Amino acid sequence: MRRIIYTSISLTGTDLAELDAIVTESIASNTKAGITGMLWSNGANFAQVLEGGHDEVGATMDRIRADPRHVDIEVVLDRAVVSRQFGNWAMRRADDGEASTPGTTFLLGFALSERTASAKRLYEIIMAIEG
Ligand SMILES: Cc1cc2nc3c(=O)[nH]c(=O)nc-3n(C[C@H](O)[C@H](O)[C@H](O)COP(=O)(O)O)c2cc1C
Repeated sequence: MRRIIYTSISLTGTDLAELDAIVTESIASNTKAGITGMLWSNGANFAQVLEGGHDEVGATMDRIRADPRHVDIEVVLDRAVVSRQFGNWAMRRADDGEASTPGTTFLLGFALSERTASAKRLYEIIMAIEG
């Protein structure tokens, strides 16, 4: 299994309908590809986790990189893992109910433990989410 965590700068603003559209289309293709993950947005940035097979995650990340709805994609982590850590949702907004909280807790712990500039940025993005 492969896990990718990245951050980006959103060009969709705070439009929740746009965010839901991204999640809806992601669920459709991720289900087919056996990919799961979560999506965080603070209005200005995205953070996303993708988990699944090596090639499937790579192909999905290639499409995400080419998406004009965000820029400045910065991969914080791309590694082989033994199991999923962010649930079994094909994709889920991180503010979508309490079931998402363990994923956010895990992500913050990861971001704090990595002493890199991209992980620091990830931490700041998650902490800037209201609520
Ligand atoms: C922040 C963000 C997250 C996305 N997450 C996914 C995802 O998890 N899976 C996916 O298939 N597409 C995701 N997309 C959409 C892809 O970028 C792309 O639009 C979609 O896969 C359709 O690609 P295609 O037009 O080349 O078929 C995401 C887009 C954005 C902006």
